[in-house]
Amino acid sequence: MSRTLFVTTALPYASGPLHIGHMMEYIQADIWVRFMRMRGHRVAFVGADDAHGAPIMIAAEKAGRTPPQFVAEMAAGRRRYLDGYHLAFDHWHSTDSIENVELSQSIYRALKANDLVTTRDVEQFFDPVKNMFLPDRYIKGECPVCHAKDQYGDSCEVCGSVYSPTELIEPYSSLTGATPVLKTSEHFFFKLSDPRCVGFLKAWTAGLSTTSGVARLQAEVRNKAAEWLLGKPDADGAFDPKGGLADWDISRDEPYFGIPIPDAPGKYFYVWLDAPVGYLASLKSYFDSGKAAADGQTQTFDEFVNDEGVEQVHFIGKDIIYFHTLFWPAMLRFSGRKTPDAINVHGFITLSGGEKMSKSRGTGLSPLRYLEIGMNPEWLRYYIAAKLNGRIEDIEFNPDDFVARVNSDLIGKYVNIASRAAGFVAKHFEGRLYDDADVARDGFASELRDESREIAHAIEAREFGKAIRLVMELADATNGFFDMAKPWLLAKSADAADRQHLHRVCTQTLECFRVLTIYLKPILPKLASEAEAFLGLAPQQWSDIDVPLPPGATVRPYRHLMARVDPKMLDALFESAGGEPAASSTASSTAAPAASSGDGTAAAESTIAAPLSIEPVGETIAIDDFAKIDLRVARIVMAEKVEGSTKLLRLTLDVGERDADGNPVTRNVFSGIQGAYAPEQLAGRMTVVVANLAPRKMKFGVSEGMVLAAGAADRETRPGLYVLEPDDGAVPGMRVR
Ligand code: 2FM
Ligand code: ZN
Repeated sequence: MSRTLFVTTALPYASGPLHIGHMMEYIQADIWVRFMRMRGHRVAFVGADDAHGAPIMIAAEKAGRTPPQFVAEMAAGRRRYLDGYHLAFDHWHSTDSIENVELSQSIYRALKANDLVTTRDVEQFFDPVKNMFLPDRYIKGECPVCHAKDQYGDSCEVCGSVYSPTELIEPYSSLTGATPVLKTSEHFFFKLSDPRCVGFLKAWTAGLSTTSGVARLQAEVRNKAAEWLLGKPDADGAFDPKGGLADWDISRDEPYFGIPIPDAPGKYFYVWLDAPVGYLASLKSYFDSGKAAADGQTQTFDEFVNDEGVEQVHFIGKDIIYFHTLFWPAMLRFSGRKTPDAINVHGFITLSGGEKMSKSRGTGLSPLRYLEIGMNPEWLRYYIAAKLNGRIEDIEFNPDDFVARVNSDLIGKYVNIASRAAGFVAKHFEGRLYDDADVARDGFASELRDESREIAHAIEAREFGKAIRLVMELADATNGFFDMAKPWLLAKSADAADRQHLHRVCTQTLECFRVLTIYLKPILPKLASEAEAFLGLAPQQWSDIDVPLPPGATVRPYRHLMARVDPKMLDALFESAGGEPAASSTASSTAAPAASSGDGTAAAESTIAAPLSIEPVGETIAIDDFAKIDLRVARIVMAEKVEGSTKLLRLTLDVGERDADGNPVTRNVFSGIQGAYAPEQLAGRMTVVVANLAPRKMKFGVSEGMVLAAGAADRETRPGLYVLEPDDGAVPGMRVR
């Protein structure tokens, strides 16, 4: 049955650029949304900037801008991230918008009419130097619960507790360093302690979505919410029967960049009141702009948000669970609106070494630098997916693991399937697949198709790591199936039965590649679309898994679908350990070259800061000098790491030589390309070798030739190495002139 979904990611503060934590969440949600769409479900996927609040007001002041100017400049920079990482949001908006003002004020009015708003005098911290009430985030001190130092005034990053700034131990103003003084002002409160709210939230947090029938919250989140709602158990394990919810302070005094509270001059909504309403505001703007209709939505915004059949799903990080599982559903419920169907919570991403890349301290892996140095966004999408599961575990970005997973698994196991089979199909069968429907339908690929339910189940449950493990097992099996047939021997045989067998094996292998491509498509949308073009297929949906390649169809000439990660790129990436550019410089950097979204290698050429320094061409030689160099086409039979060397790979080459009995004789060549290639990426590939180089005795054995590879003069700035490969049709032993 087709479902309709409304999906959001947490709205990033407009006070700074996006960091890797944001990208992880967007990639997680994007994969899920793309999967849902491939399953035939309709999804409205929206985001927005979270524009309000004192920190943005203060950042704007520092940058010499008005808050709206500052926010607009930040918003202009978002496209580079969204397009750069293939994030398929339908719409991106802002909480500083007409829609948000209307919706926030209307929700507030409804809560008030429901007698769920009250006012109270509050003693609040005031900075006597800056002459303003201090926003929570600008008061720091010791957490009253776990006693961690330097925690913010509203919540503790160490233990996750939420409290009021006046509860902090030894508070100080982080704007001026002054000790804040207490001053009284009237504040507005959402009466969350009202038994109606507590009763509703107890049931809501423990319950199932009435639309999807699935638990709204993950088990860990449910437990956390229950703890908040019931209060901490006392020493005997008993809970306070009144529950643990306090009323929520939803107002701030001017000066404040926010939405005015109706009929309350000088008072504004606290940013966390209007931020989640921004989900609805962005959705409304998507509908009102006509884009939703153009995307095939037939309802109006009001019809859509009130439709009980629409599943509302929020992706968020573990630091904002409180707001999304208590405040937000209560706001919606008691303003007469539909409540969310799922809050999907993820953990943080850390760099190996353990330092948390927190929102406020964004250091480490800069998503824009990643693109600017030519790294392929789909490498990161794949890596993050491989690490993610449906629980709230932190994941670690480990550079070595990143290189290994992309080069050895993604490219070595999956991408290479296409290149290996396509080479034979192009060379021996003019690009045509075997002309018998049974071959693709009933062959080995049917075993891959049989796994579709389990893989779909894993992706829907956000168990992306599990899905990738299953897919890579199938890729391994496919490579095993292909190797077992020894296609390189079949290709040499003059026997028609062998040739037919080769044709069938290659056709089945390409059908396996097609099925694997569909499984990976939510994660690798660009690669999948290039693979579809290579196979001559229309965009594949999940149901196309059961529609094999058409018999006798022609595939396009194979072009390498994805470059390998050069490990040196990781060094270049982390050279920027100073972190993200400052907010103001990012705002103005939107004029910088567009982020690459293509093959890493080509992009590196065009966007690395240093221009390519071309080595001067060498001294002129006579043709006879050149003729002395015997260049031969070689097949890499085997490649392996050399124990004790970080640079060398040991290559076993077939250069077409035979012994007296006609048996192939291979050569042993050491090549300094370990940094650029994983061994499994090379096995089976063709290359060019200097065949008459005098054998050289090296520490690890004798090297009997030299493989040709291109590289820049300045290897520090441009670390890539590119092994030469002859065009299709060349065979081992052919001379290169
Ligand atoms: O924590 C944050 O980064 C907030 N800007 C998230 C807001 S999510 C939603 F409520 F808008
Ligand atoms: Zn704490």
